[in-house]
Amino acid sequence: EAASLVKIELDKDLPTPNECKIRDLKPMLGKRILIHGWVHHMRWDGKRLLFIELRDGTGFLQSVLTDDLCATVDAITLKRESSVKLYGTLAEDDRAKGTFNGYELKVDYWELIGSSPAEIENILTKESNVDILLNNRHLVIRGTRASSILRARSLITQCFREHFFGEGYVELTPPTLVDTQCEGGSTLFKLDYFGSEGFLTQSSQMYLETGIPAVGDCFCILPSYRAELSSTRRHLAEFHHIEAECPFIDFEGLLDRVENLVVDVCARFMEKGADLLQTLNPDLKPLKRPFKRMDYTEAVEYCREHNIYKDEENKIHFEIGDDIPEAPERKMTDMIGEPILLCRFPAEMKSFYMKKCPEDPRLTESVDLLMPGVGEIVGGSMRIDDEKELLAAYEREEMDPRPYYWFTEQRKYGTCPHGGYGLGLERFCCYLLNVYHIRDVCLYPRYRGRIEP
Ligand code: 4AD
Repeated sequence: EAASLVKIELDKDLPTPNECKIRDLKPMLGKRILIHGWVHHMRWDGKRLLFIELRDGTGFLQSVLTDDLCATVDAITLKRESSVKLYGTLAEDDRAKGTFNGYELKVDYWELIGSSPAEIENILTKESNVDILLNNRHLVIRGTRASSILRARSLITQCFREHFFGEGYVELTPPTLVDTQCEGGSTLFKLDYFGSEGFLTQSSQMYLETGIPAVGDCFCILPSYRAELSSTRRHLAEFHHIEAECPFIDFEGLLDRVENLVVDVCARFMEKGADLLQTLNPDLKPLKRPFKRMDYTEAVEYCREHNIYKDEENKIHFEIGDDIPEAPERKMTDMIGEPILLCRFPAEMKSFYMKKCPEDPRLTESVDLLMPGVGEIVGGSMRIDDEKELLAAYEREEMDPRPYYWFTEQRKYGTCPHGGYGLGLERFCCYLLNVYHIRDVCLYPRYRGRIEP
C-alpha cells in the first residue's frame, strides 16, 4: 500500500522541544515539548487522524497525529501499550477538559520505541476472572485504577514516615530472616538457613523493643510473613507491617498513640492525595478523635445483645474467653460504624509477651483497632517488662527461651515500662481507598495458592 511508504522526518527548524513529564505540563502551554510514554488508548478517525491517550506514569495526555504522521508503517501497525516519543505543541482543547486537564498535544513528529503485539487486546477483557487478572498483574498495574492505587499506597507510606519523623521517632530496619517466633508457631514460615532452621519474621516487634534503650521511640516499615491457611479478603502471606515501640508510656498513652497515628495519617493523606481520592474514594471523611474505647468483655456483651453469634446457624452466643473471629467482629464494627479501640483481651487469647492488667491479671493491656468495612487494622499491647514474668511466659507457652536471650536481656539491663503496636499497611490502604479485597492494594499479592508473578 502506498501509504506504508510514507516516511516522516524531524523538522530541525522547529524550536528545540522541552522534554517533560505529563504532571509538569502547566508552564508548557503553547510551547513545543517532547514526551516519552506508552499508548494507553488509541482511536482512529478515518485514515488521516489518530488520537493517542499517552500515559507516562505521571499522568495522561491526549495527543493528536494528523496526515503523514499517521500514514507511516509504525502508525498503521501501532497497538496499545507500545512505547513512543512524541514531539509537538501543547494546546488547550475543550474536548480534553476533565480527563486531560484541558490539554492536547498537537504532534509534529513521533517515533516508535517499543512495539506491542495485537494480542494485547485479548489478554485482559471485561470477562477476565481473578486468576487471569493476577497472572497478568504486570499488565493490570498499567491500568488507570490499579496504577492510581499503587500511587496512593506510596503516598500513604510517605504519610506514615512523615508522622513518625514529625514526632521524633527513629526508623530502624530489623532483620526479616529470624530464628524466633512472635505471634505463634501455627503461622510461621520455616526455611533452611544454611543448614539450621530459620523463619520469615511475623513481626519486628521484639527487635524494636531492643531498640528503645538505644534510640527511644522507634518504628519500622517492613514486610512480615504469616502462613495463614484461611483465605479471606484481608489476609496475606506477606504484608507490610508498620510497627512502633515506645518506652516509658502507660496503656492509656499507648491508645493515644495509636489514635494519633491513624487520625494524623488519614488527614495527611486527604491533603496530599486529594486528586487520587477524587476518583478512588471521594467519600472519605477525616477521622474524629477520640475513638470509641471498648473492653473485650463489653464486646462480648455487645454481640450477645445484638444477635451476633459465635455460631450463626445454631444461634450460640459468645462467652467470655471466646475469640471473636473475623466475621462477627466485622459485623459488630459495621453496626457501630466508627473506629473502635478494643481493649484488654484475656491473656490466654493473646501472645506470650503481653503485660497483664494490674486490676485483673486474667486480662492483658492489649488493643486491637477495628475500622468499619475492614475490621482489625492494628494490634498492640504493653509488654511484660519483668524478666521473671517473661521467663514464666516462655515456660507456659512451651517455648525454648534460649533463642530469645537478647529479648529477655532487654528486661535484665535497665528494664522499663513500654508498649507498641503493628498496623497492617495493606488493610489501612483498603480502608482509605475503599478497596474491597486486600490483593488489590498489593503490587504482587502473596497468599495461599499465589506465589507468581
Ligand atoms: O495483631 P498482629 O498479629 O500483631 C503483631 O504482630 C504485633 N507483634 C505487632 C506489634 O505489636 N508490633 O498484627 C498486627 C497487624 C494486624 O492488625 C493487621 O493489620 C496486620 O498486622 N496483619 C495482617 N495483614 C494482612 N495479612 C495478614 N495475614 C496479617 N496479619 C496481621
